[in-house]
Amino acid sequence: STVRRGAAASSSHLSRRPFSSGPAPDRKVAILGAAGGIGQPLALLMKLNPLVSSLALYDIAGTPGVAADVSHINTRAQVVGYAGEEQLGKALEGSDVVIIPAGVPRKPGMTRDDLFNINAGIVKSLCTAISKYCPNALVNMISNPVNSTVPIASEVFRKAGTYDEKKLFGVTTLDVVRAKTFYAGKAKVPVADVNVPVVGGHAGITILPLFSQATPATNALSDEDIKGLTKRTQDGGTEVVEAKAGKGSATLSMAYAGALFADACLKGLNGDPDVVECSFVQSSITELPFFASKVRLGKNGVEEVLGLGSLSEYEKESLEILKPELKSSIEKGIKFAKEN
Ligand code: NAD
Ligand code: LMR
Repeated sequence: STVRRGAAASSSHLSRRPFSSGPAPDRKVAILGAAGGIGQPLALLMKLNPLVSSLALYDIAGTPGVAADVSHINTRAQVVGYAGEEQLGKALEGSDVVIIPAGVPRKPGMTRDDLFNINAGIVKSLCTAISKYCPNALVNMISNPVNSTVPIASEVFRKAGTYDEKKLFGVTTLDVVRAKTFYAGKAKVPVADVNVPVVGGHAGITILPLFSQATPATNALSDEDIKGLTKRTQDGGTEVVEAKAGKGSATLSMAYAGALFADACLKGLNGDPDVVECSFVQSSITELPFFASKVRLGKNGVEEVLGLGSLSEYEKESLEILKPELKSSIEKGIKFAKEN
């Protein structure tokens, strides 16, 4: 029915049906780090997505169990687990979308950049394999620090001669998910109706929610309220890290956000119109080479990087303040990939 189609076309809902009336095309999704805190619930959510026909679950260990478990769910996707580097090629072969939540998470007191030394090498080796086994796949980078791991991936692909800037995404959807939740709570509007773009990067002050563009608009919020909401969104990851008290960072809300973003990528590949999500991508909307903003997704990945729209004075100032930190995180990633 028309109502159903309308719902499926919305990029803010996990897909129930493909947009076109024909059968959904075959799509293979690979998750690298699939036995982890994010990887397992993300595997579950991707198994529930009717756009997925094949789901490859890769990790250094533990994936046969996760795959056996998830594979019993009576949905479309055929699930296979791959464990150990010698199986990485098979996991990746034929993938349309590769989601990467591999790497170590933060503990209280750490910044995302403190993860760089371990995660940079992991991301580099996984991206080297992607350039070999599925160079055309859309890559959804979740591993932190995203502000550096996305530039690392770009440089690895560039070196391999497979870089396509339309196909590399830093997943910042969790920032959007949080901004929507916190805004709805404060503005007392139904959360399902809320939209808030989040731009910049994915760490502390580089996360810039644009509450001046939030819908439904409200005049119930003071400047102080907006500052409080901005800070809570920027510190959302730390809020979870502290609450988990040494047991890691956001996994369940991240799996939800990762599934939402991968679903948007699949809808774009399948030709659904008007698929727009925020993501950290190669960009020329500021002077920085990578920047998160609204992006239109299509059959080749990024169809269009959308501009920032009009900003409040507070957002303009915050944008200038975040640029030096984001720039140095990007440069750190590029330097690592060039030198290693
Ligand atoms: P986790 O430790 O629970 O799981 C990570 C998994 O990665 C483990 O199963 C581990 O075996 C696997 N792994 C390690 N090296 C690997 C390799 N070379 N190849 C394949 N798999 C490998 O951690 P988590 O809580 O799932 O978090 C994973 C990453 O996601 C962290 O870097 C974290 O900071 C990041 N994260 C990002 C966001 C975001 O918004 N982008 C949100 C939450 C977490
Ligand atoms: C998040 O935003 O929850 C993630 O980036 C994990 C973290 O370290 O905060």
